[in-house]
Amino acid sequence: MLSQHRSLIVTSALPYANGPLHLGHLVEYIQSDIWCRYQKMHRHQCVHVCADDAHGTAIMLRAKRERMEPSVFLHQVLREHKADFAGFHIDFDYYYSTHTPDNRYLCHMIYERNRDSGHITRRVISQAYDPEAGQFLPDRFIQGTCPKCGTAEQYGDHCEACGAMYNPTELVNPVSVISGATPVTRESEHLFFTLSDFTESLKTWCNTQGHLQPEVANKLQEWFDAGLADWDISRDEPYYGFLIPGEKNKYFYVWVDAPIGYIASFRKYCQSLGLDDKPHWQPGSDTELYHFIGKDIITFHALFWPALLEGAGMRKPTAIFAHGFLTVNGRKMSKSRGTFIRASAYLRHLNPEYLRYYFATRLTSGLEDIDLNFADFAQRINSDLVGKVVNIASRCAGFIHKRCYSQLSAVCAEPELYQEFADARHEICDYYERREYAKAMRCIMALADRANHYIDRTKPWVLAKQEDNEIALQKVCSVGLNLFRLLIFYLKPVLPVMTREAEIFLDTHFFDWSDCDKPLTRHTIKPFKPLLTRVEPAAIEAMLADANANETGPGRIL
Ligand code: 2FM
Ligand code: ZN
Repeated sequence: MLSQHRSLIVTSALPYANGPLHLGHLVEYIQSDIWCRYQKMHRHQCVHVCADDAHGTAIMLRAKRERMEPSVFLHQVLREHKADFAGFHIDFDYYYSTHTPDNRYLCHMIYERNRDSGHITRRVISQAYDPEAGQFLPDRFIQGTCPKCGTAEQYGDHCEACGAMYNPTELVNPVSVISGATPVTRESEHLFFTLSDFTESLKTWCNTQGHLQPEVANKLQEWFDAGLADWDISRDEPYYGFLIPGEKNKYFYVWVDAPIGYIASFRKYCQSLGLDDKPHWQPGSDTELYHFIGKDIITFHALFWPALLEGAGMRKPTAIFAHGFLTVNGRKMSKSRGTFIRASAYLRHLNPEYLRYYFATRLTSGLEDIDLNFADFAQRINSDLVGKVVNIASRCAGFIHKRCYSQLSAVCAEPELYQEFADARHEICDYYERREYAKAMRCIMALADRANHYIDRTKPWVLAKQEDNEIALQKVCSVGLNLFRLLIFYLKPVLPVMTREAEIFLDTHFFDWSDCDKPLTRHTIKPFKPLLTRVEPAAIEAMLADANANETGPGRIL
């Protein structure tokens, strides 16, 4: 049994500061935002933090291409990211950047503790080097012909045409994506984190129920079976990041300081309230720590990150929640197919709550990809939210206003029905808690169907035609509006704006889940305005046209 008031730190993966957010990013932020809003409705102490992931080669080159100082470029991207998050009502308690003094301090501390405990080694490695650009080349900055199938212009270490995996040195006619020069091989000394020092504790951690989804734990077994290799944590200059203390011109690999950004962001949050963040990171802390991430960055979070924390004498995460990718109309998002949609393009044409609800209807606790199909999207919103939920209020509100002095009945005429709806919150809460949002939405829509059936059966429009039948009319419409109130309440984590509008209309506030217990009686409501309008196909088309017109941007790398 979970304690009454829990303390939770929730993180969402830090988006790279090398470009705008797109709808694929939103799957995760909407998922984690719903979860945190749900937790806050239990009055748990839940702090949702995130930050821009500001370091690495791609960001350095991108700023250069824009002819901007990296710090100026970062500032601009940070502003855009924050605007997009606000547009989708992603309500972080703190949003920071990894390129900050706090993060540098924490990064040094965690590194030095690991180093001083003997978890850092060094050795010379050979790497591809661009002699024209004067820099080493990460795999994805090398392009060439696939050695297996002969397809040209394949990047890094795998072929998109035939799926072959190879070493970048095996590419035929390799070229540097930065300058077009032929890469040469060069040696350099790198620092390594000895992940194998943590094999046993990582195995225990990964296999302890609740820390990882079962399919994630299974997948990681392959890493343990192969033996955990040392992790290269240094990069040579030129690089955009933090210098490694005690080394000359060596930078931390971006994946070292990125997750530490979670701690930095939480620290800033605590500082803003005059609180101490340190106890939350100590081993044995009661605070629960959850990381929402995409399935592509599991090893960073489930192996390297807990090991780094342990090596620094800090607590490990409570759980890692990985999710799948977004496909659009059944296929990977693609600029050439016109399905690469920036968050800002969506926001110019469509209500963000449509997408929040649509993703909620598709999200599970698993790693399956989520498909955004626009025909289905329009149909879901129009039939579920407009046709079922909002419809309940529009069927009842007018009669209450016109015939009953805007007042709900003195007693609830259907206490049993109301109680059934109120009891459903246990099932719905359980689904939210387990990130089974699709199930929660189905459960809520089944209740909406029942509420509509109640109105169909009791026919307020017939009662309204009968003389002196205001009492019966008021009873029926009050039941309808009370059922509507519960549905809105259950949708609050997903639809914060529509809920706020409904609160104004019902002249009530939904604070926490126990507010469901009692119906509103002898209560005056405010004028009804449509809470949500239908999705118009023309708006979707305009949004897609806009997204394409503006998507002239960079290729797949920078
Ligand atoms: O994959 C990414 O987009 C990374 N920027 C996520 C970083 S998450 C965390 F570890 F910082
Ligand atoms: Zn190939």
